[in-house]
Amino acid sequence: MYRSNNCGELRIADIGKSVTIAGWVQKGRDLGGLTFVDVRDRYGVTQLVFNMDENADLCTQARRLAREYVIQAIGIVRERSSKNANRATGDVEIEVRELNILNESKVPPFTIEDETDGGDDIRMKYRYLDLRRSPIQSNIIFRSRLALETRKYLDSQGFLEVETPFLIKSTPEGARDFVVPSRLNQGQFYALPQSPQTFKQILMVAGLDKYFQIVKCFRDEDLRADRQPEFTQIDCEMSYVHIEDILNTFEGLTRHLFRQTLSIELGDFPRMTYDDALRLYGSDKPDLRYDMQFVALNDVVKGKGFSVFDEAELVVGICVKDIAEKYSNKDMKDLTEWLQRPQIGAKGLVYIKYQEDGSIKSTIGKFYTDSELNSWAQRFNAEKGDVIMILSGETEKTRKQLSELRLELGRRLELAKPGDFKPLWVLDFPLLEWDEESGRFHAMHHPFTSPKKEDIPRMLHGDHETMKSLKADAYDMVINGAEIGGGSIRIHDRTLQSKNFDLLGFSKEEAEAQFGFLLGAFEYGAPPHGGLAFGFDRLCAVMNGQSSIRDFIAFPKNNQGRDMMIDAPSPVHQDQLKELGLELKEK
Ligand code: AMO
Repeated sequence: MYRSNNCGELRIADIGKSVTIAGWVQKGRDLGGLTFVDVRDRYGVTQLVFNMDENADLCTQARRLAREYVIQAIGIVRERSSKNANRATGDVEIEVRELNILNESKVPPFTIEDETDGGDDIRMKYRYLDLRRSPIQSNIIFRSRLALETRKYLDSQGFLEVETPFLIKSTPEGARDFVVPSRLNQGQFYALPQSPQTFKQILMVAGLDKYFQIVKCFRDEDLRADRQPEFTQIDCEMSYVHIEDILNTFEGLTRHLFRQTLSIELGDFPRMTYDDALRLYGSDKPDLRYDMQFVALNDVVKGKGFSVFDEAELVVGICVKDIAEKYSNKDMKDLTEWLQRPQIGAKGLVYIKYQEDGSIKSTIGKFYTDSELNSWAQRFNAEKGDVIMILSGETEKTRKQLSELRLELGRRLELAKPGDFKPLWVLDFPLLEWDEESGRFHAMHHPFTSPKKEDIPRMLHGDHETMKSLKADAYDMVINGAEIGGGSIRIHDRTLQSKNFDLLGFSKEEAEAQFGFLLGAFEYGAPPHGGLAFGFDRLCAVMNGQSSIRDFIAFPKNNQGRDMMIDAPSPVHQDQLKELGLELKEK
């Protein structure tokens, strides 16, 4: 028997028991007569104590232990004289009678404790050591529980878990494909799925009715904190459903997951149209943990001699509560400079401070009277102590900039409280997005998304401009400003699907070559269907109040898409290339 107990479970009630534990040496402390060693495993840390007077040999052996040695200790549980309230096992220690070294360890390249001194790259290279750290292990344990609870809930709702292939043909989700050369069909390539989209729709045609899969997806896109080239989705599809059925099912799943893993009862799931989200928050994934809705001022600011506003397509502001006294001129200057950085690109910031003494301090006092500025305050429900911040310019750009400002103020003023979760459904996305550069439409969600029923005639018969205004039966779930998932009701009719491919610039032949199997399936009784996919890694991170998904993935890639531990990607042998018919030509 390697162990009778793990390193996280001994308590006062175990005092006097003879136990055997095994784990890694976290650290040792030598206090002359007594030597203490902390031993760690997945479950916790337990203190071992060795007494020089009672057993000098054993104590000497303990002093030779180094960090990350794997040991087994046999001894008696006893009460600690100085307890550690921060540790679950902190009331007890093991008085060791026998110590066995199961394996030695080199000195680790960084400290394996909650706070580590290891930089990102070194942690990734030695991921097995990083994964020994308790915060990362908690993340991985959380992820495992979340997957289990997802399966339990979806099973209880009658969903079947079905695996779909990884070696497929391109499924466009807006990113580049990772391609895999075929040895048996030289010169031909598989694509790794950006999502199982077409397969799950085929499963609906096949009559499986409710499908889910916790599944890897692969997208060759630029990486960010919330994006990995391979990531995981909770992918779902349902037959004979309207939007309402889907939203209810996944609201139910989300509530279940928060309840079971965090003991949190989520409040309302408000719904907002895409147009309103942009108008009120300048973003299709607004963070609702704090207020600061946008208020447009076009109708009251024009014609007063302030050319910046006169020439602007949109003049829009937010009201920031209680900072008129707190925010000095220097703070406002800082904020303005932050907005003027090329990443944001605002020209300047106009502000109006409604001071506690009733006076008004503003950057545009030359052009507007105090009574005008006071009347604007009413629109924002601004009170004494508040500051209105205004940006102006071209509509889309200005909204984006103000949205960034709103989020930055949220961070600077710490408006989002830890443990606060504000979910939101964003609905009625546009079907198509016009891309000026390529001169073509792109699918806003993906090419299989259905237009709203009332927009179908306009889609089939409308002109180019009409296409820009078509709305889709598409929705996103947003939590705390992060896009957790998205989905849509699908087109299940061949004619409409062909029309959509046509609008997206596919020729008949191209559409047939790429999606003939799906169009064909639609001719054999495709039921109305729809679905959604949650980003599983993102859900893990957001539920834990973090913006990076990397430490919720056991073996993530770095920002260059490299796995630092196994050193991939890497060149392959010339012979392997030859077998695949991919020999590199001599330069
Ligand atoms: P979509 O492309 O919106 O929809 O993806 C669904 C969710 O997956 C997450 N996600 C990612 N997470 C980490 N790294 C990435 N690179 C990454 N890309 C996306 C996001 C996103 O909301 N087939 C459709 C779903 C459907 O229509 O049913 C799809 O994949 O949280």
